[in-house]
Amino acid sequence: MIIEPRMRGFICLTAHPEGCAQNVKNQIEYVKSKGAIDGPKKVLVIGASTGFGLASRITSAFGSNAATIGVFFEKAPAAGKTASPGWYNSAAFENEAEKAGLYAKSINGDAFSKEIKQQTIDLIKADLGQVDLVIYSLASPVRQHPETGVLHRSTLKPIGGTFSNKTVDFHTGKVSEVSIEPANEEDIANTVVVMGGEDWAMWIDQMKAAGVLAPGATTVAYSYIGPEVTEPVYRKGTIGRAKDHLEATAFEITDSLQDIDGKAYVSVNKALVTQASSAIPVIPLYISLLYKIMKADGIHEGCIEQIQRLYQDRLYSGKPVPTDDKGRIRIDDWEMRDDVQAEVAALWKEATTENLSEIGDLAGYKNDFLNLFGFGFEGVDYDADTNELVQIKSIS
Ligand code: NAD
Ligand code: NA
Repeated sequence: MIIEPRMRGFICLTAHPEGCAQNVKNQIEYVKSKGAIDGPKKVLVIGASTGFGLASRITSAFGSNAATIGVFFEKAPAAGKTASPGWYNSAAFENEAEKAGLYAKSINGDAFSKEIKQQTIDLIKADLGQVDLVIYSLASPVRQHPETGVLHRSTLKPIGGTFSNKTVDFHTGKVSEVSIEPANEEDIANTVVVMGGEDWAMWIDQMKAAGVLAPGATTVAYSYIGPEVTEPVYRKGTIGRAKDHLEATAFEITDSLQDIDGKAYVSVNKALVTQASSAIPVIPLYISLLYKIMKADGIHEGCIEQIQRLYQDRLYSGKPVPTDDKGRIRIDDWEMRDDVQAEVAALWKEATTENLSEIGDLAGYKNDFLNLFGFGFEGVDYDADTNELVQIKSIS
């Protein structure tokens, strides 16, 4: 079939298999161009199919020759219906890994469940024995709790009062005022259950008990801080409470890994266009202004540049891992530079529907958004008949 983007709100209902494959190949080429990293050898990536998790899997494999197991929750294709992009990304990743002689297997299912944890542990035992790095990169709006069966939903709300600010509909470029009602205690608790650190700790506990964590194993989860303008809806809102919890969990996990000399880190990453971040009000406007400035300064990065730098300059530089006063790795350092933030804050005040395509990088935002679904890549013939029924080798 000929596959075109079909937008519905903040998502695209279709994905292009060859475009997704091109995206994966581009990321692999980038990592290879930066040279070998003396990094991990056997890696589990939880949330491996898109965004920062995919970039982590690619950097592990093609930067450090690692065997990788990827866990994700993606939709398989059906006749006349495309798969979700993470499905095609993972199919392409496995093909490229195979060509390079690298072990790669994937598990598609709910990472929050006991079953998928057990299946993953069994696969590690059977094929790899142990892993020396576990990347935790889930972004999900819901979590069914494995003990209670309760389905928790996360929210993106301010805490303590209504928040009003500018936002943009990046499809139309329309800048408008958005007001978001404050969360109640239940919203906060639910968001912490979904996006906090409990599930990360469960993974590590169960992996340790099963003996599949190598001595000295490292685990990393991803967080975000961001600027003052997004604080009420992000870092000081419900999702921020979940990130506080995630960051606190890193210390608990490190304590629990003392006897195997293991270590848990949170890495604070840059704001990027992903499926998760596009759904957060205010953030797309911030990102479009930020991109403009960071590109002009030559310091713009995507997921792959961020994670390549995380491995090469932070985790596996051969020197002690640099952290901030809260023990976090910071690869949002360029985003948070004073000069960059001052420029964003000035543009923020000015931004309107009329001037955003000039003062902000709306085109870059839209392009990145299309790229998430495999559209807009050079070298892909989007008019050609394309097989949507692409399978993932290790799953089919
Ligand atoms: P993403 O939406 O691109 O990726 C989410 C991944 O989680 C996918 O692989 C998806 O399949 C998987 N997933 C979701 N629910 C699952 C489930 N129930 N079981 C198994 N897999 C599941 O998101 P992302 O933006 O890469 O976010 C990853 C992490 O990075 C999050 O913790 C996010 O908060 C953080 N982060 C994001 C940004 C940003 O701007 N995008 C910035 C800093 C930190
Ligand atoms: Na991810």
